[in-house]
Amino acid sequence: MPTKALWDDGRLCYGGDWNPEQWPPDVWREDVALMHAAGVNLVTVGVFAWSRLEPEPGRYTLDWLDDVLDLLHSGGIRAALATPTASPPPWFSLRHPDALPLTADGVRLHHGSRDTYCAAAPAYRDAARSIAEVLAARYAHHPALALWHVHNEYGTTCHCPHAETAFRHWLTTRYGDLDALNDAWVTSFWSQHYSDWAQVGTPRATQYLANPGQLLDFRRFWSDTLLSAYTEQRDLLRAANPAVPVTTNYVLGDWVPVDHARWAREVDLVAIDHYPSATDLGGEEQTAFAADLARGSARHGAGRPVPWLLMESAPNQIHTAGRMHTKEPGRMIRHSLAHVARGSAGVMFFQWRAPAGGAERFHSAVVSHAGPDTRVFREAADLGAALGRLAGTAPGRVQAAVAIAYDAASGWALRHPGMPRDGLDHPGEAAAVHRALWHAGVTADVVPPGAPLDGARLLVLPALYLASDATVDWVRRHVHGGGHLLVTWLSGVADEHARVRLGGYPGAYRDLLGVRVEEFHPLADDEHVPLTGGGTGRIWSETVHPAGAETVSAYAGGVPAGRPAITRNRVGDAYAWYVSTRPDDDTYRRLLTEAARLAGVAPACPGAPEGVEAVRRHDGVLYLLNHTDRPQRVPAAGFELLTGAAVDGELTVAPGGVAVVREETP
Ligand code: GLA
Ligand code: GLA
Repeated sequence: MPTKALWDDGRLCYGGDWNPEQWPPDVWREDVALMHAAGVNLVTVGVFAWSRLEPEPGRYTLDWLDDVLDLLHSGGIRAALATPTASPPPWFSLRHPDALPLTADGVRLHHGSRDTYCAAAPAYRDAARSIAEVLAARYAHHPALALWHVHNEYGTTCHCPHAETAFRHWLTTRYGDLDALNDAWVTSFWSQHYSDWAQVGTPRATQYLANPGQLLDFRRFWSDTLLSAYTEQRDLLRAANPAVPVTTNYVLGDWVPVDHARWAREVDLVAIDHYPSATDLGGEEQTAFAADLARGSARHGAGRPVPWLLMESAPNQIHTAGRMHTKEPGRMIRHSLAHVARGSAGVMFFQWRAPAGGAERFHSAVVSHAGPDTRVFREAADLGAALGRLAGTAPGRVQAAVAIAYDAASGWALRHPGMPRDGLDHPGEAAAVHRALWHAGVTADVVPPGAPLDGARLLVLPALYLASDATVDWVRRHVHGGGHLLVTWLSGVADEHARVRLGGYPGAYRDLLGVRVEEFHPLADDEHVPLTGGGTGRIWSETVHPAGAETVSAYAGGVPAGRPAITRNRVGDAYAWYVSTRPDDDTYRRLLTEAARLAGVAPACPGAPEGVEAVRRHDGVLYLLNHTDRPQRVPAAGFELLTGAAVDGELTVAPGGVAVVREETP
């Protein structure tokens, strides 16, 4: 483990991506002065600076970076120094055309944006290692260096001959022989049987539906390949100075072929980029979910707990469908502190200073095109002051007794063509469960299958489509150890190769749940099916036969009218619930509140009014975020850390405001 951990001094990290390569030195000096004014203590440098660092192959121009790091150091600001490998310079493409990516339909991409390389191409990997080595040799002991930030948001794929060879190699390691691959991919279907490894390729554009096993393994292969691109850089950076921690920033969601929880084993810090897309309260719901997902990876994916950090977020506008939406006054601070509440070691922005040109010229920045005399800069300075007052509280552990399982591969598999319905979305279903609990005031961990479930009294599997034998065993051990379980539709329907588990759905969990599902009845986007006891279901419905479970609510319409929609099965003293549709938000919240209550799980702050998000930490700190436009009173006792005021039984949180109470233990 690195010894120079940047969170060791008790300060929360605060800053963002800074791009001095876009500006002359007088702007650098102005920036460092402004960083001081805003309370910034960490900046990410050099993320896309490759063409400034190596303008021609093998010719390095590092003097400007020497000056930048020295300037930061003399200003008392630490650097997260990036390797610039997410954006090779134009000379690289011209010199190594074979290292440019090929899409599934055979189109070669060219430079002109970023991330245009094949990460399986030897020339790309050599060039990436070389520039990382040069930076390591020059800066591994620079006093400003606090963190290595490898690459940026790994997440590309490619179908070129290099990728194909590497995929084949990966498959031989995974399956050993072709029989095992043929079996896993069910190649007896549509005459796809492979009789020679040379016939096996990447899932290129093909006439009709592609093979689901091949699609799934292609994603896994890319996750492993990108990870190896990261670890080879990490290893050489670490070798240059083992004291400095190394990470790479994650882009969340199942659109990237990255299994973030598995990657957590290889980083010293889980770093996430988060840009909520919703303009209404959904933005706060997305923020809480992303933070809990990051914490789950950091704590459980790693096999050893590592801290996590919000590495990028928008200081102002957020991208929404077709436009940028301005974060209302106070909202940026609330979003930022929501991440800190849920354990982030600080708050980092993309970006410090808005570029004058380039593709992201209108992306929000702390120092906008208008300069520092702006609302966004003043709010950033207020946040810097607030984070300063919270020194000593990071990175804290969060009290949570519900665990929501999240599995990258299940997300990928539900996107495959030929599923019973389009738009199936494991991350979305996990977020829906999280949202229902969030509205009920119940804190949840979001964890990868197989994670230790210490302290989790209720485990939720939200459309956790794939179930390996190891996952099934993990769920069983939880339930037989007295834990409660709630399983939603499509969970456990397939094995780890996306082959259906036979005998009635959900094959992996039928006996635990005491149900057998005979057939699916997917719903149209605008279709709702009524449920007895009120509420409706959408997206999905099924013919469920109880086999020991009691019916909690039944379908009151649609094909399965009269049959169970939601059931629960007694296993020892616990309940195993099955939810065969997506209940409307109110119904889902009531259902999960009840499941949590029966599992002995209470809200984080039972007296907090609706609209106040409460997170309670193991270190005795209670975060209260008021998402309403009215003052809200919350029962609490102790000291409010942002104002220093004593709290004697009750606290008023300002409209849109945040309070952080160090609670008194009675
Ligand atoms: C066609 C094909 C079948 C099958 C069905 C599915 O009829 O001939 O092989 O794909 O469509 O609807
Ligand atoms: C990502 C990238 C940044 C930038 C932002 C824009 O997080 O890492 O370089 O493109 O998105 O939101």
